[in-house]
Amino acid sequence: MSALPNELLGQRLRLSRATLDDVDEVLAAIVASFAELHTWMTWAETMPTRESLAAFASESLTRFDSDDKWSYWMRELDGGLLVGSAALTRRGGVDELEIGYWVRTDRTGRGYATEAASVLTSAAFNSDLGVATVKISMDRANSASAAVPQKLGFERDVEYERDILTPGHSGQGVAWVVRRDNWQNRTR
Ligand SMILES: CC(C)(COP(=O)(O)OP(=O)(O)OC[C@H]1O[C@@H](n2cnc3c(N)ncnc32)[C@H](O)[C@@H]1OP(=O)(O)O)[C@@H](O)C(=O)NCCC(=O)NCCS
Repeated sequence: MSALPNELLGQRLRLSRATLDDVDEVLAAIVASFAELHTWMTWAETMPTRESLAAFASESLTRFDSDDKWSYWMRELDGGLLVGSAALTRRGGVDELEIGYWVRTDRTGRGYATEAASVLTSAAFNSDLGVATVKISMDRANSASAAVPQKLGFERDVEYERDILTPGHSGQGVAWVVRRDNWQNRTR
């Protein structure tokens, strides 16, 4: 059994372990968001196909079960629309996990990425993994993404050079971190 639950609930969102069942809905969300995803996400250099998404979902299941990366699809509780994806990934050991996310373009600006990141941060610290810090990093030019950890009270950690891999990238990365005690004090 994995260290993180198959399902996590927020105020407005349900995060469900990424499986092959939802691949068509994921593809529809990606098609509706391709311009934004292409700007920022390395996997969206070209439009994913149903086959490539099925392969991703299959690999996600394996990684979820081996406590290496926990990928979730994000759905609205009200109506069930699939509105994106969010994941926690190990970086080296399990003492630090990193969050990634994307949100369907016509559902951005509603706090969904912030809600998903909050739910995942709590899940990481509530697990038995012994997580000490949770990190969120992005290219410095990605202001919408950088707003998410700031709203959650993460602290700005390091700025670093990174490869320019998408049309939006500047080559400067920014990392934000929160430690277990700070998160638990904040949410108590
Ligand atoms: C980045 C992304 C996940 C944000 O999702 P979201 O659900 O809109 O995020 P939230 O609503 O929780 O928070 C976004 C914040 O950024 C702000 N924002 C949006 N565009 C912005 C911009 N150009 N400059 C500064 N802030 C911006 C929003 O106003 C919001 O802050 P607020 O609640 O204080 O108003 C979404 O735009 C996306 O999927 N982008 C493409 C993929 C991507 O970049 N993923 C992250 C890779 S690191």
